Amino acid sequence: MRDSFRALRFRRLIRNVYNKRFLKYGCQPHGVFWSDSGRQKSRFKIIKNQITALMPSGIVKIADIGCGYGSLADYMLKTPNCSRFIYTGYDINPTLIAACQEYSYLPSKSFAIGDCPMELVDFSVMSGTYNMAVTKDLMHWERYMFRCLAKCWDQSRIGMIFNVLVADKSHISEGMLYHCEVNKLRRRCVKQFGTTRIIRERSLPRDATLVVTR
Ligand SMILES: C[S@@+](CC[C@H](N)C(=O)[O-])C[C@H]1O[C@@H](n2cnc3c(N)ncnc32)[C@H](O)[C@@H]1O
Repeated sequence: MRDSFRALRFRRLIRNVYNKRFLKYGCQPHGVFWSDSGRQKSRFKIIKNQITALMPSGIVKIADIGCGYGSLADYMLKTPNCSRFIYTGYDINPTLIAACQEYSYLPSKSFAIGDCPMELVDFSVMSGTYNMAVTKDLMHWERYMFRCLAKCWDQSRIGMIFNVLVADKSHISEGMLYHCEVNKLRRRCVKQFGTTRIIRERSLPRDATLVVTR
């Protein structure tokens, strides 16, 4: 199967999985497969701190790719020093984008259906976006993920910041969660995109955040 057809198939499957979940739990971390709000926010904090370190002042344009029900937008509205962030959220799931447009404090034009920024931004950020695999084939999943990352990279002036679940050896778990050998992923990011750093935090032992810059 050609990569483009496979990508379409994966997107349809991803939409279905998240639709079912969101229908059951609604606008809360469980509704997008996070276990709790504390860890969801810890991931946002790491992303925010990395952006702040790279751009300590001035306006910052951010695209939140895989924005779910809009929790990062909400976090940024409530967090000091985030008023200089110009936020747009994208998700491949129309149900989730509709929820953002209905419940967020931001205007509805701040959210759109898509898998990459529609215009040039400073940073593309993705929290948990590629965690839920819809295939057991690791090679196909990683190829799909890099295809998505490349589209975001093209529209990111300074870089991309995204998190993944880590393991000693890359695999897709019984629960269909993608885990990766993070140094291998870093090497691939360096080869395909640019300088890549790995951020690890004690409070999130199974997570790594990759910061890819030009
Ligand atoms: C685990 S949820 C995280 C949602 C949000 N980032 C958060 O932390 O609350 C992953 C989200 O990414 C979306 N998604 C998955 N693959 C995507 C892709 N390639 N492009 C854009 N959104 C995607 C899903 O529809 C889902 O809303």
